[in-house]
Amino acid sequence: MEKIKVSAPGKIILFGEHAVVYGESAVAVAINKRLKMSAAIGESNSVNGYPLSKRHHSYIYTGINTFQLENNIEFTLKTNIPSAAGMGSSAAISVCTTLLLDTLKKQNMGTTTESFKDILKMPTLHEKRREMEGEIANGAFDNEYLTQGGASPLDTSVVTHGSGVVLRKEPGQNHLWKAHREDKTWHIHHMEIPDLSLVLGNTGIRGRTSEQVAKVGRFVKKRNFGREIISEIGELVEEGIRAVESNDIVKIGELMDENHKLLSILGISHPKLEKTIGAVRRHSLGAKLTGAGGGGSFIAITDTPEKAIRALERFNINVFELKLSKNGVLIE
Ligand code: PMV
Repeated sequence: MEKIKVSAPGKIILFGEHAVVYGESAVAVAINKRLKMSAAIGESNSVNGYPLSKRHHSYIYTGINTFQLENNIEFTLKTNIPSAAGMGSSAAISVCTTLLLDTLKKQNMGTTTESFKDILKMPTLHEKRREMEGEIANGAFDNEYLTQGGASPLDTSVVTHGSGVVLRKEPGQNHLWKAHREDKTWHIHHMEIPDLSLVLGNTGIRGRTSEQVAKVGRFVKKRNFGREIISEIGELVEEGIRAVESNDIVKIGELMDENHKLLSILGISHPKLEKTIGAVRRHSLGAKLTGAGGGGSFIAITDTPEKAIRALERFNINVFELKLSKNGVLIE
């Protein structure tokens, strides 16, 4: 049987991380860094030639256990998305694993890979593409949830769909699909790639998503006003969506600053994030941590990206101008 090759983008969260786990709105955009994965039937389950391990390949391990294929699978994986940096590397692995295993399963039942490949290239809101993306994204969400504990469908949705996605409690214009967990429902919507000049700084400090989500969970449980901060972030995101739609970059910047402040109160910033964000703010309209926090990355919106990047030189961190991408998951 042929080898199947797929790829998926990384992402940044523009507004609403953590609060989205509690069902609030959020906005995320795909970036032009990608993970490539392949799968072929082989002698034993392996990743890049190493035996599949629950510890080192946790998302693939979960996928193998969920799909229960008759054969063993040899995976290869190559990526330029840094891991544990808030850029969606685990979501990209979950999404690629889900698409590969789903395709192999359907191949076993006689469906050709070609048809899936074409569906993923259809226009953004085509019913067939939405249906297939919804299936992959929800499968990948289950995978993330099982592997890392509490999660929202934000990362797996944007990595599957590409462009931008908006998650909301209620369905609206450009609706793609929905996701459920316990008493929560998220409606996933398409958003055009915003025309923003963004700089990303990766502190290099690894922030584990599961730990940060659990930390916010403890805070919300212990303090009444924790829940209020979550709702406040939800309201801010709605303002953020309007600002993005009207391309009001000054407002977007203000709201990014405000979103960062609320995330810091939740306890997920880091001294290195505070220092670097402080330095980049002098050359930005606004800046915030992006993703789970506890280290990881920040984004800044700026008219002068060269100056913003120069202001971060002395911190010896990885900084670059962000390129957003309309490509989601693809079969190569
Ligand atoms: O894994 P990260 O760093 O991209 O963060 C994910 C965003 C959270 O809201 C913290 C968790 C989630 O699943 O939405």
